[in-house]
Amino acid sequence: MVYDRRPDNMVRITTPELADKFIEEQLEALREQIGDKKVLLALSGGVDSSVVAAMLIKAIGDKLTCVHVNHGLLRKGEPEQVIEVFKNQMKANLIYVDATDRFLDKLAGVTDPEKKRMIIGGEFIEVFAEEARKLDGIDFLAQGTIWPDILESEAGIKAHHNAGGLPEDMKFELVEPVKILFKDEVRIVGERLGLPAGMVYRQPFPGPGLGVRCPGAITRDRLEAVRESDAILREEFAKNGLEGKVWQYFTVVPDFKSTGVKDGKRTFDWPCIIRAINTTDVMEVTVEHLSDDLIDHLVKRIISEVPGINRVLFDYTPKPPATVEYE
Ligand code: XMP
Repeated sequence: MVYDRRPDNMVRITTPELADKFIEEQLEALREQIGDKKVLLALSGGVDSSVVAAMLIKAIGDKLTCVHVNHGLLRKGEPEQVIEVFKNQMKANLIYVDATDRFLDKLAGVTDPEKKRMIIGGEFIEVFAEEARKLDGIDFLAQGTIWPDILESEAGIKAHHNAGGLPEDMKFELVEPVKILFKDEVRIVGERLGLPAGMVYRQPFPGPGLGVRCPGAITRDRLEAVRESDAILREEFAKNGLEGKVWQYFTVVPDFKSTGVKDGKRTFDWPCIIRAINTTDVMEVTVEHLSDDLIDHLVKRIISEVPGINRVLFDYTPKPPATVEYE
């Protein structure tokens, strides 16, 4: 049965057995709902869309087409992981679109944070719609809507970010197989569907991606500095047992330069800011204090491995007054 709302008496999915039961029921319901028809999914590589993809691959196989749009603002290794997991391992019907140039060209010289977000969101829909138009006979659009999305949109806190957005001429029926689940339940279900733990337990990552961590006008070299420093930070957090313990951590490379010295020569490069935070509801956020040794090690690695960086700073500001992201 396809539920429209979470039943009041639904037991919270906390064990593999409960997840397996949910999966079994949903696979049957999905096969019944979809029949012989075709489904399209925008697969970002985030937890929710990945779990929806894994579920639909099990339910309807190649009647699902996934489109992964790389907007050039993903973290290091992310598009590769999506291709490896879904195309190579799960044999999904996956269309990969590298739209990096398109996005970065549109973003060139744009400094206003809201304008940047609008360009990224608008261009995403355009690229996705272009791919969808190339396909024949699609009836359903799958979405990774989860229960808190519904509750928040009903409470007027935020617009339901998944629904709609596509041009008027593209009307699909929706398939939302994790719509009645809380995030922690989605993760257990994802694990049981065979997704790697690194994918289902990953930290939150904003839709506009590294674009909001490259404040001001995005340039390719500064974006690369954000991507490389973020990869180092994630690697060191994993090595030091902080992965999965700290709620969110990332780097930001602001658009100003300062003087430094390297091998006896003057440098004039960007700083790299480290942000590491904990929270339960993201309304209030505390800062995770790192050990001196870890900070020292991060400074050494980032300075020596990331071109264009000559200084590393740590952001000690809670929310409020600072938001988590810089834009
Ligand atoms: P802020 O910066 O508002 O961030 O304190 C709160 C949390 O939301 C994430 N975030 C986003 N997530 N699309 C998303 O899906 C976005 O545009 C977006 N902006 C911020 C942020 O990473 C943090 O976890």
